[in-house]
Amino acid sequence: MPERFHRYLFQPCLPLGKDGKKATMCQEHLDLARQAAAEGAVLLKNDKNTLPLAQGEKIALFGIATVDYIKGGTGSGDVYTAYLRSNLDGLKIKEQEGKVQIYQPLAEFYRDFLEKERARLEPLRWAEVREMEKMPYGFARSREDSRIRLKYKVGEPELTDSQIVSAAAFAGTAMISLSRISGEDWDRIPRPGDYYLSEAEKTLIDRVTAAFSKVIVVLNVGGVIDTKWLAENRKIGAALLTWQGGTEGGLAAADILCGDVNPSGKLTDTFASSFDDYPSSAGFDAHVEYVDYNEDIYVGYRYFETIPGAKEKVIYPFGFGLSYTSFALSGLHAFCDGDAITVTATVENTGRVPGKEVVQVYYAAPQGVLGKPAKALIAFQKTKLLAPGERQTLAMTFPVNDMASYDDLGKLQKSAYLLEQGAYRFYVGTSVADVTELAYAYEVNEAYRVTQQLVSRCYPVALEERMLSDGSMEKLPVGGTVNRECPVHTPLTAQPPREALHLNQVGIQITPEEFVAQMTDGELAELLGGKGNVGVSNTCTFGGNDRLKIPRFATADGPAGLRLGWECGIPTTAWPVGTLLACTWDTELVYKVGEAGAKEVKENNLAIWLTPALNIHRNPLCGRNFEYYSEDPYVSGKMASAMVKGIQSQKVGTSVKHFAANNKELNRTVSDSRVSERALREIYLKGFEICVKEARPWTVMTSYNVLNGIHTSESVDLTEGILRQEWGFDGIVTTDWGVKNDPVLEVRVGSDMKMPNGYPEELLEALQNGTLTRADLEVCALRLVNTFLKFE
Ligand code: BGC
Repeated sequence: MPERFHRYLFQPCLPLGKDGKKATMCQEHLDLARQAAAEGAVLLKNDKNTLPLAQGEKIALFGIATVDYIKGGTGSGDVYTAYLRSNLDGLKIKEQEGKVQIYQPLAEFYRDFLEKERARLEPLRWAEVREMEKMPYGFARSREDSRIRLKYKVGEPELTDSQIVSAAAFAGTAMISLSRISGEDWDRIPRPGDYYLSEAEKTLIDRVTAAFSKVIVVLNVGGVIDTKWLAENRKIGAALLTWQGGTEGGLAAADILCGDVNPSGKLTDTFASSFDDYPSSAGFDAHVEYVDYNEDIYVGYRYFETIPGAKEKVIYPFGFGLSYTSFALSGLHAFCDGDAITVTATVENTGRVPGKEVVQVYYAAPQGVLGKPAKALIAFQKTKLLAPGERQTLAMTFPVNDMASYDDLGKLQKSAYLLEQGAYRFYVGTSVADVTELAYAYEVNEAYRVTQQLVSRCYPVALEERMLSDGSMEKLPVGGTVNRECPVHTPLTAQPPREALHLNQVGIQITPEEFVAQMTDGELAELLGGKGNVGVSNTCTFGGNDRLKIPRFATADGPAGLRLGWECGIPTTAWPVGTLLACTWDTELVYKVGEAGAKEVKENNLAIWLTPALNIHRNPLCGRNFEYYSEDPYVSGKMASAMVKGIQSQKVGTSVKHFAANNKELNRTVSDSRVSERALREIYLKGFEICVKEARPWTVMTSYNVLNGIHTSESVDLTEGILRQEWGFDGIVTTDWGVKNDPVLEVRVGSDMKMPNGYPEELLEALQNGTLTRADLEVCALRLVNTFLKFE
């Protein structure tokens, strides 16, 4: 056993921060969390410069969300943190600095109301949590069921007329905070109180807008909600979408409200006029056993920009976000050099305060035979903080081949990525709806150019039709059988640094292959499943073999921070949720968050952080959208890559999840995502592909759902075919926790790790009856051992 593994054996751990201080929830991390939370907040509306607040402005704060801050979602994506700064807490700090004056009686009223309601509701909530903890594994791991949290969320109190009148007598400005919570195992609902405003919220808005001439709305939400009312209500002057910002979220909001930070976040989702405007809404929850992805590749802005008549339904477009300053883009050029295209843009801050802008590059491929989205994001870059009058020239380069489309049906060439004949046009701007077309276009002269020949994998057998770019539906071939072939396992393509292992008992130096070869069948079968918790872990461990001195490498959730059980008494930094991080459009910042988060993981003697999560925001209702980045695979992939690189720079493992097409929570373990190969390749797998190829994560977690008729952890096409053979992944494939799928089949398709516990007896029985060979076990074990050697 390498000496550096000793830390996994012992608790407590040594502080890893500077000067012997603890890294976990240290001030530096909290400052970074605050910075990130402010960077990803999106200013949706700002009529007549309602924001920022003027120096010393008097303000009255409305809404229970003023004091009841939602830092993130529930379930495995939750985090136990020491304190939370609400919007009120944040503004109070600004008040101490003389920047605002808060109308105290109302603030106190909300605080008292929250306290009383919590005193009433918390015992009930905890009683339910405790009951839940008695249930078998699946819930019994110190995490709250989303339903419980939602059920005991404190509601909106009714105000008296005199409360509003007195507030208006004190302050000219009103701020209404609204919040939403959602989480694992539970989808949101397209009804009042969740996607839409509740009656109480509507009443509050009506009464406040009637009494105040200046009204600001702050949205503390984890995903898309209805914003039509916000855009249309002229009495609402400004709206700030602060998402769910982690421990310091309320302070980050105050930074923006007071103008200490100039907002630079941009949406990574389209906010449509109504829930029904999303093409996936009608079928989202229509069936328990399956979801038909009929909208195909026309997800998010790809739908709204392309399908006739859809653009008008957009309230706030993808990529959109306002600033307190103004920018001008000039020098928009593109050129092709070999296999890559570079787009340049000069950004000038033409306003009065420093600010940052995000330049986005979209391409439009010729419609051709396959049909294409009218625009697809292909590059982006955020400027540095530009002083008034300052300029920065950005150069964004991408491979020509990234513009290829996947021909799943063989209209031109089956299972090939190809560029069809015609002009590839480019659009540069600051949202998908605010772009300038470049003079330059890239021409493909031949009928089509194959950029990559693949083979058919994860094909649908029951999806009957899909949308085309003119909005019509195309019939798809149905029937056929799902591929359950078992492969010759992929040999390891890239070996990690070789390191001699030694058996303690005999002290012989040996290679990883020799190490695995000397394991007994029983030991191999044991190694392929999770072991119990050690130290502060609550999601179980990889590894664990006393004879061979393999320590237990503990896992921990992710993504919004290191999630330890509250019973451990170790609060950790709650980082802003994934969607917010994506809205920063700042990969360097996301890298830093990954790096800092990994230090907390490491300091607590944990080895694998079960993050990042990058399923596509197919529909606003998915309860876990807050954990994920975007409706767009490119921005998702880039964010996940940055996160993985940051985490793994600390020699802490990641688990990129949930692979793949896990786009709803209800019935997630039985629901079959029926999706075309093209949509899979171009939308649902693309982000994973970018992340795996760019950042080489150490583990990938398959999902709970069924994908085109087969559970993802049993899918040879997914694990061996796509992940290993096509993308060159050489790490561990792990199941998601507690999936009921066949452990023998999982091993045969190269799913190395069964979590949270394995089924060694079943594997040994399969070995006896010949369903599994020792080589099947060894190949998985070797991948495990090779990955363990990367931990430090
Ligand atoms: C979630 C994963 C999580 C795992 C461990 C599962 O329920 O889907 O995202 O990492 O539990 O808590």
